[in-house]
Amino acid sequence: MLEKIKETADFLRKQAPEMPKIAIILGTGLGSLVDYIDDKKFIPYASIPNFPVSTVQGHSGNLIFGRMGGKPVIAMQGRFHYYEGYDMKTVTFPVRVFKELGVETLFVSNAAGGMNKEFKVGDVMIITDHINLFPENPLRGHNYDELGPRFPAMTEAYSHKLIKLADAIGDEKGLRLMHGVYVGTTGPTFETPAEYEYFRVIGGDAVGMSTVPEVIVANHAGMRVFGLSVITDLGGKDILVAPSHEEVQQAAVLAQPTVEALVQAMVERC
Ligand code: HPA
Repeated sequence: MLEKIKETADFLRKQAPEMPKIAIILGTGLGSLVDYIDDKKFIPYASIPNFPVSTVQGHSGNLIFGRMGGKPVIAMQGRFHYYEGYDMKTVTFPVRVFKELGVETLFVSNAAGGMNKEFKVGDVMIITDHINLFPENPLRGHNYDELGPRFPAMTEAYSHKLIKLADAIGDEKGLRLMHGVYVGTTGPTFETPAEYEYFRVIGGDAVGMSTVPEVIVANHAGMRVFGLSVITDLGGKDILVAPSHEEVQQAAVLAQPTVEALVQAMVERC
Protein backbone atom coordinates (compact mmCIF):
# COMPACT_ATOMS: atom_id res chain seq x y z
CA MET A 1 0.00 0.00 0.00
CA LEU A 2 2.80 2.45 0.86
CA GLU A 3 4.29 1.96 -2.58
CA LYS A 4 0.96 2.52 -4.28
CA ILE A 5 0.44 5.77 -2.35
CA LYS A 6 3.90 6.97 -3.36
CA GLU A 7 3.44 5.96 -6.99
CA THR A 8 0.14 7.85 -7.24
CA ALA A 9 1.51 10.89 -5.40
CA ASP A 10 4.58 10.97 -7.67
CA PHE A 11 2.34 10.88 -10.74
CA LEU A 12 0.22 13.76 -9.40
CA ARG A 13 3.22 15.82 -8.31
CA LYS A 14 4.35 15.85 -11.93
CA GLN A 15 0.94 17.15 -13.03
CA ALA A 16 0.42 19.73 -10.29
CA PRO A 17 1.29 23.32 -11.02
CA GLU A 18 1.73 23.92 -7.24
CA MET A 19 1.30 21.79 -4.14
CA PRO A 20 -1.94 22.39 -2.24
CA LYS A 21 -2.31 22.19 1.54
CA ILE A 22 -6.09 21.98 1.19
CA ALA A 23 -8.13 19.16 -0.32
CA ILE A 24 -11.86 19.24 -0.98
CA ILE A 25 -14.11 16.22 -1.54
CA LEU A 26 -17.20 17.30 -3.45
CA GLY A 27 -20.20 15.15 -2.58
CA THR A 28 -23.46 14.46 -4.38
CA GLY A 29 -24.87 17.52 -6.09
CA LEU A 30 -22.14 19.78 -4.73
CA GLY A 31 -20.02 19.61 -7.84
CA SER A 32 -20.92 23.23 -8.64
CA LEU A 33 -18.20 24.30 -6.22
CA VAL A 34 -15.88 23.45 -9.08
CA ASP A 35 -16.96 26.72 -10.73
CA TYR A 36 -15.22 28.54 -7.88
CA ILE A 37 -11.89 26.93 -8.63
CA ASP A 38 -9.69 29.06 -10.88
CA ASP A 39 -6.95 27.89 -13.25
CA LYS A 40 -8.34 24.37 -13.20
CA LYS A 41 -6.40 21.35 -14.31
CA PHE A 42 -8.61 18.25 -14.61
CA ILE A 43 -7.07 14.83 -14.15
CA PRO A 44 -9.58 12.02 -14.90
CA TYR A 45 -9.49 9.23 -12.31
CA ALA A 46 -9.09 6.75 -15.15
CA SER A 47 -5.68 8.27 -15.95
CA ILE A 48 -4.36 8.16 -12.38
CA PRO A 49 -2.37 5.07 -11.39
CA ASN A 50 -4.06 3.03 -8.63
CA PHE A 51 -7.21 5.15 -8.68
CA PRO A 52 -10.54 3.37 -9.11
CA VAL A 53 -13.23 4.85 -11.36
CA SER A 54 -16.45 6.22 -9.84
CA THR A 55 -19.56 4.32 -10.94
CA VAL A 56 -22.46 6.47 -9.72
CA GLN A 57 -24.57 8.63 -12.00
CA GLY A 58 -24.13 12.29 -11.05
CA HIS A 59 -20.58 11.75 -9.78
CA SER A 60 -18.02 12.65 -12.40
CA GLY A 61 -14.58 11.30 -11.71
CA ASN A 62 -11.83 13.91 -11.82
CA LEU A 63 -9.14 15.23 -9.59
CA ILE A 64 -8.85 18.97 -10.04
CA PHE A 65 -5.85 21.11 -9.23
CA GLY A 66 -6.51 24.83 -9.09
CA ARG A 67 -6.92 27.85 -6.84
CA MET A 68 -9.75 28.86 -4.58
CA GLY A 69 -9.77 32.15 -2.72
CA GLY A 70 -6.21 32.58 -4.00
CA LYS A 71 -4.96 29.33 -2.43
CA PRO A 72 -3.87 26.18 -4.22
CA VAL A 73 -6.39 23.37 -3.73
CA ILE A 74 -6.93 19.83 -4.92
CA ALA A 75 -10.54 18.74 -5.35
CA MET A 76 -12.17 15.37 -5.87
CA GLN A 77 -15.08 15.64 -8.26
CA GLY A 78 -16.82 12.41 -7.31
CA ARG A 79 -15.80 10.07 -4.53
CA PHE A 80 -15.70 6.32 -4.00
CA HIS A 81 -18.51 4.85 -1.92
CA TYR A 82 -18.50 1.64 0.06
CA TYR A 83 -21.92 0.75 -1.43
CA GLU A 84 -20.37 0.67 -4.90
CA GLY A 85 -18.50 -2.40 -3.75
CA TYR A 86 -15.10 -0.82 -3.13
CA ASP A 87 -13.32 -1.98 0.00
CA MET A 88 -12.46 0.55 2.69
CA LYS A 89 -8.81 0.81 1.60
CA THR A 90 -9.95 1.86 -1.86
CA VAL A 91 -12.61 4.28 -0.58
CA THR A 92 -9.99 6.10 1.50
CA PHE A 93 -7.00 5.78 -0.84
CA PRO A 94 -7.27 9.35 -2.21
CA VAL A 95 -7.05 10.79 1.31
CA ARG A 96 -3.81 8.92 1.88
CA VAL A 97 -2.48 10.28 -1.39
CA PHE A 98 -3.47 13.81 -0.33
CA LYS A 99 -1.50 13.39 2.86
CA GLU A 100 1.53 12.20 0.89
CA LEU A 101 1.19 15.33 -1.29
CA GLY A 102 1.38 17.52 1.81
CA VAL A 103 -2.30 18.29 2.35
CA GLU A 104 -3.03 19.43 5.92
CA THR A 105 -6.72 20.31 5.80
CA LEU A 106 -9.54 18.25 4.32
CA PHE A 107 -12.96 19.66 3.42
CA VAL A 108 -15.66 17.03 2.93
CA SER A 109 -19.20 17.52 1.77
CA ASN A 110 -22.10 15.17 1.30
CA ALA A 111 -25.84 14.91 0.82
CA ALA A 112 -27.68 13.54 3.83
CA GLY A 113 -31.11 12.74 5.17
CA GLY A 114 -32.16 14.88 8.14
CA MET A 115 -33.57 13.40 11.36
CA ASN A 116 -33.30 16.57 13.45
CA LYS A 117 -36.79 18.04 13.61
CA GLU A 118 -35.46 21.59 13.20
CA PHE A 119 -33.99 20.80 9.79
CA LYS A 120 -35.51 21.71 6.43
CA VAL A 121 -34.69 20.35 2.98
CA GLY A 122 -31.86 22.47 1.54
CA ASP A 123 -30.33 23.24 4.94
CA VAL A 124 -26.57 23.07 5.37
CA MET A 125 -25.33 21.23 8.46
CA ILE A 126 -21.83 21.71 9.79
CA ILE A 127 -20.72 18.27 10.93
CA THR A 128 -19.63 18.54 14.57
CA ASP A 129 -19.07 14.81 15.05
CA HIS A 130 -20.00 11.47 13.55
CA ILE A 131 -21.22 7.99 14.45
CA ASN A 132 -19.61 5.23 12.43
CA LEU A 133 -22.16 2.55 11.56
CA PHE A 134 -20.21 1.08 8.66
CA PRO A 135 -19.55 -2.60 9.32
CA GLU A 136 -15.85 -2.06 8.82
CA ASN A 137 -13.23 0.47 9.89
CA PRO A 138 -10.78 1.56 7.16
CA LEU A 139 -7.91 1.21 9.66
CA ARG A 140 -8.67 -2.45 10.38
CA GLY A 141 -5.68 -4.67 9.65
CA HIS A 142 -1.97 -3.92 9.60
CA ASN A 143 -1.14 -0.44 10.85
CA TYR A 144 1.47 1.41 8.85
CA ASP A 145 3.14 3.51 11.55
CA GLU A 146 4.43 5.79 8.79
CA LEU A 147 0.81 6.77 8.09
CA GLY A 148 -0.44 7.21 11.65
CA PRO A 149 -0.92 5.56 15.06
CA ARG A 150 -2.51 2.17 15.72
CA PHE A 151 -5.18 3.68 17.97
CA PRO A 152 -5.93 7.19 16.76
CA ALA A 153 -8.04 9.50 18.91
CA MET A 154 -11.33 10.68 17.43
CA THR A 155 -12.21 13.27 20.07
CA GLU A 156 -11.93 16.12 17.61
CA ALA A 157 -12.60 14.38 14.34
CA TYR A 158 -13.94 17.68 12.98
CA SER A 159 -11.71 20.63 13.85
CA HIS A 160 -13.33 22.87 16.46
CA LYS A 161 -11.33 25.81 15.16
CA LEU A 162 -12.70 25.34 11.64
CA ILE A 163 -16.25 24.99 12.99
CA LYS A 164 -15.79 28.32 14.81
CA LEU A 165 -14.48 29.91 11.64
CA ALA A 166 -17.51 28.59 9.73
CA ASP A 167 -19.87 30.05 12.32
CA ALA A 168 -18.12 33.41 12.16
CA ILE A 169 -18.40 33.44 8.34
CA GLY A 170 -22.04 32.34 8.61
CA ASP A 171 -22.80 35.26 10.95
CA GLU A 172 -21.02 37.74 8.72
CA LYS A 173 -22.75 36.58 5.57
CA GLY A 174 -26.12 35.85 7.15
CA LEU A 175 -26.04 32.15 6.23
CA ARG A 176 -28.39 29.64 7.83
CA LEU A 177 -25.99 27.01 9.18
CA MET A 178 -27.13 24.10 11.32
CA HIS A 179 -24.86 21.97 13.51
CA GLY A 180 -25.15 18.24 13.94
CA VAL A 181 -23.87 14.71 14.20
CA TYR A 182 -23.54 12.73 10.96
CA VAL A 183 -24.39 9.04 11.02
CA GLY A 184 -22.47 7.08 8.37
CA THR A 185 -24.12 3.92 7.02
CA THR A 186 -23.40 1.69 4.06
CA GLY A 187 -26.50 2.32 1.94
CA PRO A 188 -27.41 1.89 -0.87
CA THR A 189 -30.90 1.69 0.62
CA PHE A 190 -32.30 4.85 2.11
CA GLU A 191 -33.58 4.31 5.63
CA THR A 192 -36.87 2.90 6.81
CA PRO A 193 -38.86 5.32 8.98
CA ALA A 194 -37.86 3.26 12.01
CA GLU A 195 -34.17 3.48 11.08
CA TYR A 196 -34.28 7.29 10.75
CA GLU A 197 -35.94 7.34 14.17
CA TYR A 198 -33.29 5.00 15.60
CA PHE A 199 -30.46 7.17 14.24
CA ARG A 200 -32.06 10.24 15.81
CA VAL A 201 -32.47 8.52 19.18
CA ILE A 202 -28.81 7.43 19.30
CA GLY A 203 -27.70 11.05 18.77
CA GLY A 204 -27.67 11.57 15.01
CA ASP A 205 -28.96 14.66 13.22
CA ALA A 206 -28.33 13.52 9.64
CA VAL A 207 -27.54 10.23 7.90
CA GLY A 208 -25.60 9.47 4.75
CA MET A 209 -23.57 6.86 2.91
CA SER A 210 -20.10 8.42 2.84
CA THR A 211 -17.63 10.71 4.60
CA VAL A 212 -16.97 8.67 7.76
CA PRO A 213 -14.30 6.43 6.17
CA GLU A 214 -12.42 9.38 4.66
CA VAL A 215 -12.61 11.34 7.91
CA ILE A 216 -11.25 8.40 9.91
CA VAL A 217 -8.27 8.10 7.59
CA ALA A 218 -7.70 11.86 7.58
CA ASN A 219 -7.63 11.85 11.39
CA HIS A 220 -5.27 8.88 11.39
CA ALA A 221 -2.97 10.91 9.16
CA GLY A 222 -3.15 13.94 11.46
CA MET A 223 -5.08 16.14 9.05
CA ARG A 224 -7.68 18.59 10.26
CA VAL A 225 -11.14 18.14 8.86
CA PHE A 226 -14.11 20.33 8.12
CA GLY A 227 -17.31 18.61 7.01
CA LEU A 228 -20.71 19.70 5.89
CA SER A 229 -23.91 17.93 4.94
CA VAL A 230 -26.59 19.24 2.67
CA ILE A 231 -29.96 18.06 3.97
CA THR A 232 -31.67 16.69 0.88
CA ASP A 233 -34.59 14.84 2.50
CA LEU A 234 -36.13 14.34 5.90
CA GLY A 235 -36.77 11.06 7.66
CA GLY A 236 -38.49 9.89 10.81
CA LYS A 237 -41.28 7.69 12.00
CA ASP A 238 -43.99 10.14 10.86
CA ILE A 239 -42.37 10.88 7.49
CA LEU A 240 -43.43 8.45 4.79
CA VAL A 241 -42.21 10.33 1.71
CA ALA A 242 -39.56 8.27 -0.03
CA PRO A 243 -36.43 10.09 -1.23
CA SER A 244 -35.01 9.29 -4.67
CA HIS A 245 -31.48 9.82 -5.99
CA GLU A 246 -32.82 12.46 -8.40
CA GLU A 247 -34.59 14.35 -5.59
CA VAL A 248 -31.45 14.22 -3.49
CA GLN A 249 -29.49 15.79 -6.34
CA GLN A 250 -32.14 18.46 -6.95
CA ALA A 251 -32.35 19.31 -3.25
CA ALA A 252 -28.58 19.65 -3.05
CA VAL A 253 -28.85 22.44 -5.64
CA LEU A 254 -30.96 24.48 -3.15
CA ALA A 255 -28.03 24.60 -0.77
CA GLN A 256 -25.45 25.55 -3.38
CA PRO A 257 -25.34 29.31 -2.68
CA THR A 258 -24.74 28.69 1.04
CA VAL A 259 -22.17 25.96 0.45
CA GLU A 260 -20.31 28.03 -2.13
CA ALA A 261 -20.21 31.18 0.01
CA LEU A 262 -19.08 29.25 3.06
CA VAL A 263 -16.44 27.00 1.53
CA GLN A 264 -14.90 29.73 -0.55
CA ALA A 265 -14.55 32.06 2.45
CA MET A 266 -13.21 29.24 4.62
CA VAL A 267 -10.55 28.22 2.15
CA GLU A 268 -9.53 31.86 1.84
CA ARG A 269 -9.14 32.29 5.59
CA CYS A 270 -8.14 28.92 6.99
N1 HPA B 1 -30.16 8.47 3.84
C1 HPA B 1 -28.92 8.09 3.51
N2 HPA B 1 -28.18 8.75 2.66
C2 HPA B 1 -28.66 9.86 2.11
C3 HPA B 1 -29.94 10.30 2.41
C4 HPA B 1 -30.74 9.57 3.32
O1 HPA B 1 -31.88 9.92 3.63
N3 HPA B 1 -30.15 11.43 1.69
C5 HPA B 1 -29.02 11.67 1.00
N4 HPA B 1 -28.11 10.70 1.24
